[in-house]
Amino acid sequence: MNITAKTKLLGIFGYPIGHTVSPAMHNAVIKALGLDIVYIPFEVKPPNLRFAIDGIKGLNMRGVSITIPHKEAVMKYLDEISEEAKLVGAVNAIVNKEGRLIGHNTDGYGYVTSLKEEFNLNPKDKKVIILGAGGAARAIVGVLAAKKPKVITVANRTLARAVSLVKAFRVKFPGTKFEAIDLDEENLRISFEDANLLINTTSVGMKKEGALNVPLKALPKTAIVSDIVYNPLQTLLLKKAKRLRLSTHGGVGMLIHQGARSFKLWTGIDAPVEVMRKVALKALKTGGGR
Ligand code: ATR
Repeated sequence: MNITAKTKLLGIFGYPIGHTVSPAMHNAVIKALGLDIVYIPFEVKPPNLRFAIDGIKGLNMRGVSITIPHKEAVMKYLDEISEEAKLVGAVNAIVNKEGRLIGHNTDGYGYVTSLKEEFNLNPKDKKVIILGAGGAARAIVGVLAAKKPKVITVANRTLARAVSLVKAFRVKFPGTKFEAIDLDEENLRISFEDANLLINTTSVGMKKEGALNVPLKALPKTAIVSDIVYNPLQTLLLKKAKRLRLSTHGGVGMLIHQGARSFKLWTGIDAPVEVMRKVALKALKTGGGR
C-alpha cells in the first residue's frame, strides 16, 4: 500500500471498536479494485463523537461508517439525513458531499438484499415476524415495509417498545397490517401459524449466549428463520431451526450488503461482494467480532 497526500480516507467510528470486521472488508475491496483509498477504524468515545464528526470535514474524509453506540446520537451533528435514515431513526454511514455531511442507513437494504440473494424472497404479501424492537428492528422494518408484506408482527420483551415501533410505521405503510405482541409463548404460537419469515433482531445469541425461547415448531414447514447475529455464524436459534428442517438465514449477508451499499455511496463504485464475504467469513471464523 502506497499512502500519499492523494490517498482518500474512509473509516469507522465506534466504541468499542476492537472487533469490527468492517476495516478488513473494505480494505480488501479497495485492494481488489486497486483504489487509492484507506479505511481506518477509530475508537470514538461518546463524549468525543462531535469532535470526530467535525474531523470528517476537517480532514476531508470521503465518509465513515457509524457503529455502536453512535448510530442515533450522530444524527444531530449532520447537515442532512436521507429519507431511509429518517424513517429508521439511525445512521450507519455518513457521506461527505463537498463539505456537507449526509447520514444514510444501509442496514435494512443490506438485510433485504441478502434475503433476496440467498432465498430469492420477495416480502410482498408475506407474513413476517420480527423479534425485537430496537434500532436493528427499525432498520429492517423500514425497508421490509416498503416491499408491501401482508403482515408485520413485532414481538418484544418490552411490549411498549413494540407498540411504539408499530405505531410509527403503520401510518407510513398503510398497505401492511402491523401487530405488536410480547414474547409470551402462546401469543407467538398463534402468530407463527401462518408466518413466512421469522427474524431475530435482538442481540440474544451473540457470542454463543443462548437463544430466545420461541416455539419454532409452530412455524409452517416452508418458513425461513433468519438471525441478524453473525457471531457465531450459526446461532443457537438457527441450529434449532435447522434441526426442525426449517430454512435458515444467517447475519453475514446483511453485514456484507450494508457495507457494499455504503461503499457505493462513498465512491460510486459497486463493491465486489464476494471479496467482502470471503474476508468477513475468515475474520469471523478466526475470532473477529461485531
Ligand atoms: P439494537 O440497536 O441492536 O437493536 P437495542 O436498541 O438496544 O439494540 O435493542 C435490543 C433489542 O433486543 C430490544 O428489542 C431488546 O428488548 P427490550 O426492548 O425488551 O429491551 C432485545 N433484547 C435484548 N436482550 C434481550 C433478552 N435477554 N431477552 C429478550 N429480548 C432482549
